[in-house]
Amino acid sequence: MDKPIFLIGFMGSGKTTLGRKLANHLNLKFIDLDHVIVERIGMSIPAYFTQYGEQKFREMESQLLKEQRGKRAVISTGGGSPCFFDNMEWILENGISIYLYLTPKALHNRLQQSNIASRPALQGLRDEALLQFIEEKLDERAPFYKQAHIHIDQLNTSLDTICQSIE
Ligand code: S3P
Repeated sequence: MDKPIFLIGFMGSGKTTLGRKLANHLNLKFIDLDHVIVERIGMSIPAYFTQYGEQKFREMESQLLKEQRGKRAVISTGGGSPCFFDNMEWILENGISIYLYLTPKALHNRLQQSNIASRPALQGLRDEALLQFIEEKLDERAPFYKQAHIHIDQLNTSLDTICQSIE
């Protein structure tokens, strides 16, 4: 396959974990776009947000996304990657896209247990405020995510089924 497989979806939907497994299964390289960004900017994403602001981060993210063109790899994107500029259109044209879907409640459970400090968008949010944020952001982002070629219910779909839907 000469096109990347892009995993898209909200923070905490399991893009990185599934991406690694999928890459392994398909014998492809795995690329985490957040890591590519961190390597290029030479600092953590929260530090970059604080120093340069979200707009600059989104420009960098879009540029580095487009540098992945033609790679034989499974690529997990950041939760906001498909939702800025023409990124989703580009993803559709240049790869196979998989949307990992989870309900706001399930995302909430997973994000409560994750390292919130590593995600600037979630700073200071817990419990009800976090759930409300997830519901609102997901509503805003779902129209982008839903354009993906393949939709996967993350909790109820086996790796084999996912692989079959790509082939
Ligand atoms: C973001 C998601 C993060 C990272 C950045 C912004 C977002 O990636 O790109 O903190 O706006 O949803 P993950 O989805 O891998 O957490």
